[in-house]
Amino acid sequence: MSTTTLAAYLSQSTIPPRLADLVGAVAKGCVEISAQVRRGGAGQIMGALGSENVQGEVQQKLDVLSNDILLALCAEAEGLSAMASEEMETIHPVREVGPQGGYLLLFDPLDGSSNIAVNVSIGTIFSILPTPADSVGRAVTEADFLQPGRNQVCAGYVVYGPQTQLVLTLGEGVCAFTLDPECEDWVLTNPAMAIPAETKEFAINAANTRHWAAPVSRYVEECLAGVEGPRGKDFNMRWVASMVADVHRVITRGGVFMYPWDKREPNRPGKLRLMYEANPMALLVEQAGGASFDGTGDTLDAPVTGLHQRASVMMGSKAEIARLRDYHAA
Ligand code: AHG
Ligand code: MN
Ligand code: MN
Repeated sequence: MSTTTLAAYLSQSTIPPRLADLVGAVAKGCVEISAQVRRGGAGQIMGALGSENVQGEVQQKLDVLSNDILLALCAEAEGLSAMASEEMETIHPVREVGPQGGYLLLFDPLDGSSNIAVNVSIGTIFSILPTPADSVGRAVTEADFLQPGRNQVCAGYVVYGPQTQLVLTLGEGVCAFTLDPECEDWVLTNPAMAIPAETKEFAINAANTRHWAAPVSRYVEECLAGVEGPRGKDFNMRWVASMVADVHRVITRGGVFMYPWDKREPNRPGKLRLMYEANPMALLVEQAGGASFDGTGDTLDAPVTGLHQRASVMMGSKAEIARLRDYHAA
């Protein structure tokens, strides 16, 4: 059986070569992160660093190491103009925007940091935006990044689990590659990921039940009521606490992932970040036939005001998101 590697996939004529080059650089960085993750306690990667990121979260050594790996490897991609990350307060310019325009890369270098110490799946999330038309011939600014998720030309994640997998969209469907650790090649293992329309599974941190908004409570209560309730079927619940792992399950076998606004901090839209968590995952979910919702509209259409802006997140099987939309409209 012949296999398709990521390099062969990216050489398709429909993918702009400079974009292919950048995606290849991100994937190369993730191979390196995967190697570090696998070393774990045998390497120098475990534990907290003693610093906080711009969101006031304690940085793990692996958060910063992963960030540094992506910064170093992606800067080599010629089409890249600048980067932004969960772990950096402001943007990291790379080069002036050339006459052909350039790309902006955003990432959550290590998603699910709380799972590092317990050896549970973690990941990397990334998003690629075009530089604005008026940026040619100058260095980009933070304002150039503030584009709606709908503008993304590529989004993806890598899950570091029992297998290391890269799930990718360039705006025409979603495919999955599995890292072959023997040769360090990404092998195409699913050319067309499709989220089943119907599901019996949902994911939400139930410890926050008392803080939820009424439409979210209604949705979850109806799932929990099972076969005797209005849904007429039993549901199952899963929560890994790594968005990458939870969304990967949803894209693979259906379901809903929610980290919605709640009353703990009423002025904060949610816990997760729009530009490097919600938006790339929303594009992947939509491209796999699902939908996403932020309590008001499609996540991908949400106005962007800041690099580290938070979002209310609901995404997954289309019918379930339609139901959540209805409950929010009621
Ligand atoms: P990060 O490690 O990049 O800060 O992201 C953690 C996020 C996300 O991956 C996960 O879904 C969520 O935090 C888990 O939050 P709780 O601990 O509140 O369940
Ligand atoms: Mn994260
Ligand atoms: Mn992170």
